[in-house]
Amino acid sequence: MGAATPESVVTTARAGAILVVTVNNPPVNALGVAVRQGLAAAMAQAQADSAVAGVLLVGAGKAFIAGADIREFGKPAMPPSLPEVCRSIEDCTKPVVAVLHGAALGGGLEVALSAHYRIALPAAKLGLPEVSLGLLPGSGGTQRAPRLMGARAATELMLSGKHLSAKAALAAGLVDQLAEGDDAQAAGLAYLNALLAQNAPVRRTRDIAIPDPAAALAELEVLKADTAKKTRGLFSPLKIIECVQAAVQLPFDEGMARERALFLECLDSPQRAGLIHAFFAEREVVKIPEAKAAAPRAFATIAIIGGGTMGAGITVSALDAGYPVTMVERDAASIARGRANVEKVYTGLVAKGRMTEEAKAAVMARYTGSTSYDDLANVDLVIEAVFEELDVKKAVFKELDRVCKPGAVLATNTSYLDIDAIAAVTSRPQDVIGLHFFSPANIMKLLEIVVPAKVGADVVATAFELAKKLKKVPVRAGVCDGFIGNRILAVYKQAADYIMEDGASPYEIDEAVRGFGFAMGPFQVTDLAGGDIGWATRKRRAATRDPKARYVEVADRICERGWFGQKTGRGFYLYPEGARLGQPDPEVLAIVDAERAKKGVTPRQFTADGIMRRYMAAMANEGANVVHEGIALRPLDVDVTFMSGYGFPRFRGGPMKWADMYGLPRLLADIEEFAKEDALFWKPSPLLVKLVQEGRNFDSLNQLA
Ligand code: 3HC
Ligand code: NAI
Repeated sequence: MGAATPESVVTTARAGAILVVTVNNPPVNALGVAVRQGLAAAMAQAQADSAVAGVLLVGAGKAFIAGADIREFGKPAMPPSLPEVCRSIEDCTKPVVAVLHGAALGGGLEVALSAHYRIALPAAKLGLPEVSLGLLPGSGGTQRAPRLMGARAATELMLSGKHLSAKAALAAGLVDQLAEGDDAQAAGLAYLNALLAQNAPVRRTRDIAIPDPAAALAELEVLKADTAKKTRGLFSPLKIIECVQAAVQLPFDEGMARERALFLECLDSPQRAGLIHAFFAEREVVKIPEAKAAAPRAFATIAIIGGGTMGAGITVSALDAGYPVTMVERDAASIARGRANVEKVYTGLVAKGRMTEEAKAAVMARYTGSTSYDDLANVDLVIEAVFEELDVKKAVFKELDRVCKPGAVLATNTSYLDIDAIAAVTSRPQDVIGLHFFSPANIMKLLEIVVPAKVGADVVATAFELAKKLKKVPVRAGVCDGFIGNRILAVYKQAADYIMEDGASPYEIDEAVRGFGFAMGPFQVTDLAGGDIGWATRKRRAATRDPKARYVEVADRICERGWFGQKTGRGFYLYPEGARLGQPDPEVLAIVDAERAKKGVTPRQFTADGIMRRYMAAMANEGANVVHEGIALRPLDVDVTFMSGYGFPRFRGGPMKWADMYGLPRLLADIEEFAKEDALFWKPSPLLVKLVQEGRNFDSLNQLA
């Protein structure tokens, strides 16, 4: 396919006295430079041709227009700008109608708001989601939407980034009419012909006055205070409110100038770069070699082995996606508990009024509990979630090998164990794969798809298909201790322990990590997950730990007292009467002090910046190792893992994107500086060293050959 030209992506055709202007820029009709040029030319044509009485704007394919071309952001701007194009639409002296079907988002909706009338098909989705890209609507959306739907409703739409249905958009005043059916052009022509027959006037959104400006400004002040609290550290939400304040207070053109200035500030912000990286990375992760090599196997029934925390969560996820699920447990008591674990989730939804008893009964009707593997003879896909012990898992897989039909996919939810070893006990290693869900499995988005040596490409493709059906974000990972996420977590958690022993309190560390944008710090996470889990892992690894490696014993001292975190009322924090937010515990600080004294460490001061330099260096360096060893396909896979599964702030785009923005030479210099204290722990990743030598960044590895 050749490069897009204005003529190829915007076509014009006459239907009587109407000029039909069609945007045809697959996949989503994004407003790249050629589309903007094409639209500007079409509007000039409509204006100049006296035989044209009205203009219809329509999108070809599945959308009206999904917005500006996100790939152009951060590159030199090319004329005409989108605000100029919108202006030329609004200025037209002949009625312009936009007919909306599919996505009418961001700049796409702004084009529609510049038209004089709007009609929407039933499946249209309207929104101004720029905030999720670190931006604000920059082509008049902040000025025109408040004029059509009121200042407060428009601001809420822009702050939420949500899509409105056609019906909701009609109720909000964003569109004038709803159409039937799915033929956008026919609906648009009928509407415009009717308008022309009535001599309907040109009706410019910019000429509409916002009612009761004083009340609108007061409402915006309330939204501002609320937003400042909720979106701590985010740049564009408050700028959106400033734009709407300008819409209320200033003449239209001055409001537009204000919007432009603030849009450019957002465009320049690192948050925009991080969020747009996140947008594309989430779409790139599914592009894996196996998907090109093979088609997924068909699957209609799912079995889960184990009904504990994870087995129940995965069952709920599969039931929610509409699958029948058979759960197998060890004995009658265990399966009763497994069923109860599943039912509890739906009972909670009913109690909150988010589900009816009938809907719950209908979902639970697709659930079957069993204590016999023989019930799995016809199942298409099995996910094992039993205890994290290799021998137990091997025994389960021998059973699965015995009973399952040929071609069934056999998956394990193991967190750390060697999946090649599990596959090896079966006669069909080509069917065995890792599906590593995160807790709570019915809520967390991340699904690591762990690819052992002998698995078939079609099984990997099936796992990605399953992720899609369960609405998960899949990331392809190789087999190693902890795969992508938990392997990297182990390293930065260790860095946090060192910082603690060297002088910062766990509370200072958690605060610095939250200040960076994580929802929780590492010690809060330990308390939430249960300190006993990490303790068990540390004991298991004690025998193989390098005796020369630094080992911080604070967490062991805490666990020895039975303080396992929230569930026991205390851990690193105190949780009086089941409180969810912990309070600092002087006794924990005393334990930390005692450990420092035992090791002869003189505590030193750490700033939040000093804490984060070490924490992030450890994370990004191990991320580089994971890419270097092929455990992750690309740096972006590490980024998506952390954003979807570990609470990494999305506006920073993930640890590898963070590293690129921090600068790899600077990151390497930090690691070399830290290595002077502990060369065993702080070893620069060979990939980091290589990239610095070659003057490249992680992003340069994100394009798969
Ligand atoms: N620019 C460039 N590419 C885009 C794009 C955009 N605005 N929107 C989607 N794409 C690309 C995707 O990257 C993907 O490419 P790929 O196939 O190479 O991976 C392809 O289009 C299809 O996208 P999805 O996989 O997301 O398809 P879905 O059907 O699941 O979703 C959608 C469609 C709802 C339109 C979704 O793509 C979406 O939300 N897009 C972004 C919408 C948006 O944020 N618009 C605002 C842009 S900013 C703006 O307009 C600024 C203005 O105010 C000045
Ligand atoms: P759990 O202890 O809550 O549940 C395990 C269940 O397996 C129990 O109900 C037990 O009765 C059942 N079981 C044991 N042997 C069995 C057998 N032979 N046949 C049938 N059922 C059997 O454990 P959890 O937390 O659900 O973990 C399960 C697996 O998921 C482990 O491999 C764990 O590493 C992994 N995992 C755990 C996460 C977590 O946050 N808890 C996160 C991601 C993975």
